[in-house]
Amino acid sequence: MATSKRTTRKRATRAARGVSTKGRGRVRTSVPVDLDERSYAVELGRDWLTTIGRRIGRQLAAERIALITVPTVARRYGPMLTRGLESTGARVGRIVVPDGDSSKSLAQLGKLYDRFLLQGLDRQSAVVTLGGGVAGDLGGFAAATFLRGIPFAQVPTTVLAMVDASIGGKTGVNLSQGKNLVGAFHQPRGVYIDIDTLRSLPVRQRAAGAAELIKAAAIWDAELFEWLEGRIEAFLALDSRVVLPALERACAIKAQVVRRDEREGGLRRLLNFGHTLAHAIETHARYRGILHGEAVAIGMVFAADRSEALGFAPAGTRARLEGILERAGLPTRAPDRPRRAYLSAMAVDKKKQDGKIHFVVLKGIGSAGTVMLTPQEILPARWRPSPSGRARGGGDVAALEMRRDRRGDVVELGHSVRMRLERIAAAERDRRAGLAEVAIAAIGEPTEWPARVVQALASLPESEGGQARSILESGLDQWASDLGFPPLDALCDVEQAAERVAHEQPMRAEELERPIEIDELERAFAEAEAQTDEMHDVNAVAERVLMDEPIGLAELSGQVLGLLAEEGVARQEREEVPVDAAVVEDAARPMAPDGGDAEEAGQRVSASLLATLERWLENLERRRAGRAQ
Ligand SMILES: NC(=O)c1ccc[n+]([C@@H]2O[C@H](COP(=O)([O-])OP(=O)(O)OC[C@H]3O[C@@H](n4cnc5c(N)ncnc54)[C@H](O)[C@@H]3O)[C@@H](O)[C@H]2O)c1
Ligand SMILES: [Zn+2]
Repeated sequence: MATSKRTTRKRATRAARGVSTKGRGRVRTSVPVDLDERSYAVELGRDWLTTIGRRIGRQLAAERIALITVPTVARRYGPMLTRGLESTGARVGRIVVPDGDSSKSLAQLGKLYDRFLLQGLDRQSAVVTLGGGVAGDLGGFAAATFLRGIPFAQVPTTVLAMVDASIGGKTGVNLSQGKNLVGAFHQPRGVYIDIDTLRSLPVRQRAAGAAELIKAAAIWDAELFEWLEGRIEAFLALDSRVVLPALERACAIKAQVVRRDEREGGLRRLLNFGHTLAHAIETHARYRGILHGEAVAIGMVFAADRSEALGFAPAGTRARLEGILERAGLPTRAPDRPRRAYLSAMAVDKKKQDGKIHFVVLKGIGSAGTVMLTPQEILPARWRPSPSGRARGGGDVAALEMRRDRRGDVVELGHSVRMRLERIAAAERDRRAGLAEVAIAAIGEPTEWPARVVQALASLPESEGGQARSILESGLDQWASDLGFPPLDALCDVEQAAERVAHEQPMRAEELERPIEIDELERAFAEAEAQTDEMHDVNAVAERVLMDEPIGLAELSGQVLGLLAEEGVARQEREEVPVDAAVVEDAARPMAPDGGDAEEAGQRVSASLLATLERWLENLERRRAGRAQ
C-alpha cells in the first residue's frame, strides 16, 4: 500500500467536517427493567456523560443530590456528570469515598449519613452513584436507608457494575464476618452507562467484568456466547461495535432474570453460576490478590467440569468455557490448596440449607439449573486443584500495570494481548519508516495508549511539532523496552510491512476511513504522559486540561461545534459548551455549509493537534521546573 500525504490530509479533512459523528453521544439504546411500579431503564451510549447528568437530573427532579463516587472516577468523570446534573437546577454535593471494598462498611455508611445531613438532604433529595460496584452498593444502600429510603440512580463505570451490580436493586455493605451481610433491595430509578468511561479502566478489571458477562451468556444465551467467542479480544480492547451490543444483551439478561425473580428465588440463583468455588477462593485469599471476576472464572470452569461429570452437560462444555475465559486472560485453575480448605470455606456459605448448597450446573452452553449438593458432593474426594493452576490473573493482566511489576511479566502476558502490543510496536516502526498509512491500518481501533500515540503521530505533518514529537516518541521507546520488545527503529522494507498488515489483520475500509476524534487524542496524550514518568501527579494535570480548561476549547471548538451542528443537537444542548461568542464565531467559520477550503480545514486540524501537543509539552516543562526548585 502506498503512503501519500494526500490520504493523510483527506483523513484530517474528514475529521474537520465531522464525519466522525457516528456514535458521538448518540448511539443510545435502552433496556427496560420491568418491575411494575419500580420499573426503570438501563440506558447505554457513548461519550454522553453530561447528557446523562441532565437526564438523571430531570428524572429525579430533586433539589439536592448527593453524588457518591471514588477518587479515580471522581477526578475523571465527576465534573462532566455534575455539570449535567446542575444544569437542571439541582444542588450537587460530591462525596468521595476511599477506593476498595473496605469502603462497603458500616463505618463508611455512618459517614455518608453525616454528610447527607450536613448537605441538608431531605425526602425530596436523591442519590447518584458513579463508579464500580463498591460505589453502587454503598451509595445504593445509603439511599435505601436514609429517611427510610430516597430515590437513586446508578452510573456504573466498571464492566462488572454495568452488566451485574448496577441492575437488580441489591445494595449493601460488608461486615467483618463476611461480604454483603447487611443490605436491602432498593431499585434505582435508572441505570446510565457511558461505555467510554471504560477506557480508563485497567484491562485486568475489564477482563474480570467480562467473566460475569461470559457467565450471563453461559447460563442463559447460547447465541450471545457464540458471538462473544468470536469477539472477546475486541471486547477487551473496547471496540464499541462489540462492547455496546454485548453490554446491551447482558443487561437484558440480568433484567429478565430480575424481573422474573426480583427477590432471589430459584431463577436469580442461576446468576451464582461459578460463585460457589469462587467465594471459597476469595475467602481463602482474604479478598486479596484476586479479583472477584477472576475467582468466578475459575469457579465457572470448575462448575462446568462438575456439570459434565454429573451428567448434566454434554462433553466439551467445559472446554468451550475454558477456551473463551483463557482468551480473555482470566485464570481458570483453582489455586493449589488442600481440598479441606475449600470444603471448610464452602461450609460457611450463607445460602446453605440443611447442609446443602444450591449448586448451579450447566445443562450445556446457554442453559443452567440448580441442584442441592453437600460441599463433599460438590468437591468429590478425588478432586484436586490442578497443579499447573495459576492462582492469579493468568494472562492478559493489564499492560498498563506491567511497568510497576517488571518481573517476567511479559512472559505472562496473554497470547492475544502480546500479539496486539507487538503489532502496535511494528506499526510504530513502520511509521518511523514513513509508512503512516500502514501504521494506522495495522493499529485498527486504537484502544491502548501507545496505539493512540502512534496514530496521533501518524496524523501529524512530519515537519512540525518536533519537540512534542520527540517526547512522545521517547515515551513509546520506553514502553517498548519495558515490554522487552526490539527497539522501535524504522523498518524500511515497504513491501514486507504492507504484507504484514494484510496478513495480520484484514484491512477494513471503514477503519482506514475512520478519523481520529480529538478527544481520543486528548486522552491518548493524557495516558501517554502518565507513562513518560516525567510527571508525578498525572491525574491532576489531566483533570486541569480535560476538565477545568475544557479540552482547550479555543483550539478545539471548531471541532466540537462542527460536530454538534452536524448532528443537529438542540440549541439548548449546544449552549452548554462553555465558550465565548467570539471563539464560537471564529471556530464555526471553516464549518460553513460549503465547507470552505477543504485543504485549509485540514490544516486547521493539524494545527489544533499541534497546539495540543505543545500544551502538553508546556505542562511537562512547568512540572519539571517546579520539581527542580
Ligand atoms: N449489587 C449487586 O448485585 C452486585 C453484583 C456483583 C457485585 N457486586 C459488588 O460489586 C463490587 C465489585 O464491583 P467492581 O468490580 O466494580 O469493583 P470496584 O467498584 O471496587 O471497582 C474496581 C476498581 O476500578 C476502579 N474504577 C472504577 N471505574 C473506573 C474507571 N472507569 N476507570 C478507572 N478506574 C475505575 C475503582 O476505583 C476500583 O479501584 C463488590 O463489592 C461486589 O460485592 C454487587
Ligand atoms: Zn459475581
